[in-house]
Amino acid sequence: MSEIIPLERIHERGAAILLSYPKLDPEEVLRRVEEARELGVEAIELRGRHLINGLPVLGKGHTGVVIAVKTRSGEAALKIRRVDADRASFRRGAEMLRIANEASVGPRLIGASDNLILMELVEGQYLTEWLSKPDFNAGCVKRTLRRLLDMARRLDLKGLDHGELSRAHRHILIAGEEPMILDFESSSTLRRASNITSLIQYLFINERNRRLLEVWLKLPERSILLKALKNYKRTLSEDDYNILLSLIDLN
Ligand SMILES: Nc1ncnc2c1ncn2[C@@H]1O[C@H](COP(=O)(O)OP(=O)(O)O)[C@@H](O)[C@H]1O
Ligand SMILES: [Mg+2]
Repeated sequence: MSEIIPLERIHERGAAILLSYPKLDPEEVLRRVEEARELGVEAIELRGRHLINGLPVLGKGHTGVVIAVKTRSGEAALKIRRVDADRASFRRGAEMLRIANEASVGPRLIGASDNLILMELVEGQYLTEWLSKPDFNAGCVKRTLRRLLDMARRLDLKGLDHGELSRAHRHILIAGEEPMILDFESSSTLRRASNITSLIQYLFINERNRRLLEVWLKLPERSILLKALKNYKRTLSEDDYNILLSLIDLN
């Protein structure tokens, strides 16, 4: 059961720490409550599979704490800048998410401020958990992975480099057959986009994932895949993308 706490009662159950993590600064909490209100947040909801000080949350990373919230127009996810984050604002990350959304990638951006990103709440399993489940078939695995790769491909074409897809452990959720790429905090439109390269390395070169995927797909030797990746990286062409897809049994 989840617990809903209206913003005006944020100090109940010690929930204020979520707005000013890891060090509680009461004035910062007040400022952030105002920011959240301006974005339309009415209450926070204590739920999720991760815990902060015993409180359930959707997730925690190096720059933010992500919690479920209630807004005027329904449920959403709120990413709250950690007070020890290595960046002064979330505005740039939110702009990267907005660009990703233009390519139909990432949770839908609802609003952002210096310390907050309000976005679509995604309920799903981390990719490796999802892959470890025996209760689905090869068709479903293939469709889902293909959708995921097509997302990375769209980001490549858009010129947005996600930046963390080679270590995508906590950045890919799967809901049903729908993959979702999260966290555009390290993204850039200035670097050369290498989303497909990073994702294929993560999925098919990385030993652990490769072993999970081999159950469902016929995979080539790593050296063959690496060579095709090198070509794709140089051209980013549709032809080279299709060669990669056929090598990993997803065309
Ligand atoms: N829109 C979302 N819906 C549900 N959970 C999310 C959402 N965004 C992030 N999370 C969860 O929160 C975790 C941390 O978010 P992330 O954006 O990676 O923060 P950081 O920039 O601190 O790494 C993610 O690994 C994921 O579990
Ligand atoms: Mg992250």
